[in-house]
Amino acid sequence: MKYRLATLAFALAITANAHAASGTTHGNAAAGHLVYLHQCSGCHSNLPGADRFGPTLYGVYGRKAGSAPLHHYSAAMHASKIVWNATTLNGFLTNPHAYMPGTIMPYSGLKNPQMRINLIAYLKSISPQKSP
Ligand code: HEC
Repeated sequence: MKYRLATLAFALAITANAHAASGTTHGNAAAGHLVYLHQCSGCHSNLPGADRFGPTLYGVYGRKAGSAPLHHYSAAMHASKIVWNATTLNGFLTNPHAYMPGTIMPYSGLKNPQMRINLIAYLKSISPQKSP
């Protein structure tokens, strides 16, 4: 519990910074962190180099698809040549199998648009190397 509160405070601080820096962040990273905890953390860590069943989501924003060290990806993920950003994450997370036929991510999709925007803001906040 202590850890979760600390993480939440961290996410809030990052959101505040992102707002101050760009003024263009519409997602709420703290709310997105809760989505991550409920829907993604069973398969995905948010720490560097810590793969679970899925690759770590630390640094995923701005990363080439299929490039986390240690992880075994599907051929589809390797071949996709996608870079994860707000647009590609939104497409993939809406319906992974429609967006990327052949992906082995066993997840049917996050249908609520605001939850996706918040989740993407959270993924950006745990990606120190983020690109536009
Ligand atoms: C039941 C397990 C599971 C759940 C739940 C899950 N994933 Fe995944 N995820 C995977 C696996 C396995 C892969 C690798 C897919 C492949 O190689 O085709 C993956 C791949 C990904 C990738 C590509 C990462 C990269 O390094 O290229 C992203 C982004 C992603 N997941 C985000 C999410 C998010 C965000 C959620 C929550 C909404 C989520 N996933 C829920 C198992 C899961």
